[in-house]
Amino acid sequence: MRTVFLDVGPLAHLAGNGSLQGHSILDSNELIAAPGMGIVVMDDTIEKIAPSAEIQDEYGAADSSQTDLSEVTVLSLNGKAVIPGLVDGHTHLLWAGDRSRELSWRHSGKSYKEISNLGGGIQDTVKSTSQATDEHLLQLGYARMRSSLRSGTTHLEAKSGYGLTTESELRLLRIASQLQSMDHLPSLDLTWLGAHDTPAGMNTNQYVEHILSEQLPSVLEQGFARSADVFCEPGWFTIEQSEDILKSSRAGGLELRMHIDEFSDGGGGGLATELKVTTADHAHYTNHESRMEMESAGVNTGFLPGTPYAMGSQWPNFNDAIENDFTWSIATDFNPNCKTLSMPFLGSLLSQRCSVHPLAALVAATRNPSETTPHPSGKVHGRIQEGGIANFNVLNAPYWEAWCMQPSETPFISTCLNGKLIHH
Ligand code: NIG
Ligand code: FE
Repeated sequence: MRTVFLDVGPLAHLAGNGSLQGHSILDSNELIAAPGMGIVVMDDTIEKIAPSAEIQDEYGAADSSQTDLSEVTVLSLNGKAVIPGLVDGHTHLLWAGDRSRELSWRHSGKSYKEISNLGGGIQDTVKSTSQATDEHLLQLGYARMRSSLRSGTTHLEAKSGYGLTTESELRLLRIASQLQSMDHLPSLDLTWLGAHDTPAGMNTNQYVEHILSEQLPSVLEQGFARSADVFCEPGWFTIEQSEDILKSSRAGGLELRMHIDEFSDGGGGGLATELKVTTADHAHYTNHESRMEMESAGVNTGFLPGTPYAMGSQWPNFNDAIENDFTWSIATDFNPNCKTLSMPFLGSLLSQRCSVHPLAALVAATRNPSETTPHPSGKVHGRIQEGGIANFNVLNAPYWEAWCMQPSETPFISTCLNGKLIHH
């Protein structure tokens, strides 16, 4: 099945190999084509990108009388701008329960750790999740992924981590793997985050011992997770504990990701560098030297600006990352404490509140995170180029900048997902 898109407005294709750093992230001549291009999609793949007139000569003009049964569908986008499918490289997708009462606790001065010690935080969600049926969790996951797609996300990374026993972590990964096989949903890349917190009744050393001897081998045997992650933060998992879990995970064939420096500079950047992990996320309090070392080791910095938004803390300095040539991306960190799956909201936060150029924010929401979380087809994603997966968004606007100027409703009229056009 071939679908032909004529009369594309500005096309923010972001084409090229690998991720972008420094000022190359702002190179609109390289990354954006002027209005007047066309795109030919064959099955799930972008077959051709060329001037619209040339494509129209080959396939004819747009015809509203075409039926679903015709072999070629020709559509005009009437000058609407197009950007790549958004890539959300860090989510905690599956959990049940509600932690809204914590907002009042935070306003009365309680910290994240104090809330956790009061029985709130991750432990509260672990309890609610354990009481939810498989079917309920599947429904929650489905609804969240549909919401994410409506906001233009065509691929998500999703972590377990609200189980904390072997059986419950395997259950979360199994339910997530069911979502991987459903139609009309973004694709999913699964990460095991058993080291998210210490379950009640154990100390952290005992839990790490359990992870190494029982939970990790079971996760490897199950085979659904592609990566492992650890909440490496003072008060949760130490550098040594994180190192043991990550090294054993790598020995078992998993890729590595980390949560570091969410609340303080705890030295996680050093471990991320030593292990050359794929991405070190949050990294809000990481010092400059550690950032430089991470960059030399090829580690992506995955900023999660929804968390300081939800917690009322400081934004990281994104423009500093540009000035210092770091490789960085943004992701929602969707979790019970940060309930957004909207990458356009984060785009707005960066460009309208933190002086980040909208093109830099777009690269950080598409091409750069795609390098940390491959598409299951094996094709490139997070950019629009020939041979890549046909994942892109059509804006309800003639300017590509509109992607990050509408933080509430979706800015997109439709999303092409694996070659199929979905209207919002
Ligand atoms: O990345 N910080 C660790 N994990 C999540 C939050 C978990 C929670 O509060 O439930 C995060 O922000
Ligand atoms: Fe997280």
